[in-house]
Amino acid sequence: MSVKKIGVLTSGGDAPGMNAAIRSVVRAALKNDMQVLGVRDGYTGLIKGDLVDMGIRSVSDIIQRGGTYLYTARCPEFREWEGVLKAKAVCEKVGMDGLVVIGGDGSFRGAADLSKAGIPCVGIPGTIDNDIACTDYTIGYDTAMNTTIEMVDKLRDTAQSHDRCSVVEVMGRRAGYIALNAGIACGATYIVVPEIGLDMDAMLNKIKAAKALGKRYFIIMVAEGIGHVDEIAERIEKETGIESRSTVLGHVQRGGSPTVTDRVVASQMGFHAVELLKQGIGNRVVAQKAGKIVDFDIQEALSMKKDFPMDLYNIANDISF
Ligand code: ADP
Ligand code: F6P
Repeated sequence: MSVKKIGVLTSGGDAPGMNAAIRSVVRAALKNDMQVLGVRDGYTGLIKGDLVDMGIRSVSDIIQRGGTYLYTARCPEFREWEGVLKAKAVCEKVGMDGLVVIGGDGSFRGAADLSKAGIPCVGIPGTIDNDIACTDYTIGYDTAMNTTIEMVDKLRDTAQSHDRCSVVEVMGRRAGYIALNAGIACGATYIVVPEIGLDMDAMLNKIKAAKALGKRYFIIMVAEGIGHVDEIAERIEKETGIESRSTVLGHVQRGGSPTVTDRVVASQMGFHAVELLKQGIGNRVVAQKAGKIVDFDIQEALSMKKDFPMDLYNIANDISF
């Protein structure tokens, strides 16, 4: 199959590095004499036909920008087969022979549906959560963790000045990868992740033990999949006598200029996606495994399970007191 024109869209939550991926897709496709259409607002824009021609200079000056230059959306209509068929009709009308979808698991389910409908789609993992099982790395994760530690370092200054306990909620949807890594990087006394759950007594004992060893201020890192940081802070104050405050970091973690890791991985993955589509290969998701860029069947990828790095969690626990 000779592929002449492909589309590229971003879907679900934005992530730093998505722009670097868009740039790579556009430049790699143009280099292979394919035309590229940018689809605005994810699947919503695809159904509406909100498309823009992507020339070589259309992606200049975006590699360093956070967010997504093509905008993103959550599109309930695309979860229905009728929505998928509407999108397929748009692709056929404009001669789009393939589509690169940059997003998370949900976006890949949509990409699998559209591939089944006859438009080959390739997914690129873009989410700060790093919660996609088939890949060691998702675009945006490194930047989000770096933003998180920058923010927590600031919380640390004030916690230290007041001898307080700072209970911080970080993003990750149902996953604890940001909490675990940022927690280690910030020297958190205790890290709470949904993969393990909250053991209130273990946490309180850890804080008391650290206090007994002369620790004066504390950082407790809590993944949003656990939540209730205000209640956790209240309980710590009540049980330990340490004045406590809670902070939900929120969407600040999704913004900002992508780190070198996010820019480079995004560039590699975008290039790989085009290599697949140029051969007419769809229903694949690009992944990073042991430092190499590979790809998987989307259904196979979605059925995989990701192990939580217990060894890292145990190290964190052993060295924080
Ligand atoms: P993410 O891609 O980050 O996991 P979402 O779960 O919000 O984010 O999914 C993004 C979009 O992908 C949804 O708004 C919807 O358009 C599409 N999508 C999600 N789940 C499905 C599904 N099961 N079938 C088809 N499309 C889906
Ligand atoms: O998936 C990225 C993410 O930021 C999660 O960490 C978080 O749970 C969710 O998206 C927030 O989504 P929204 O942008 O709809 O508030």
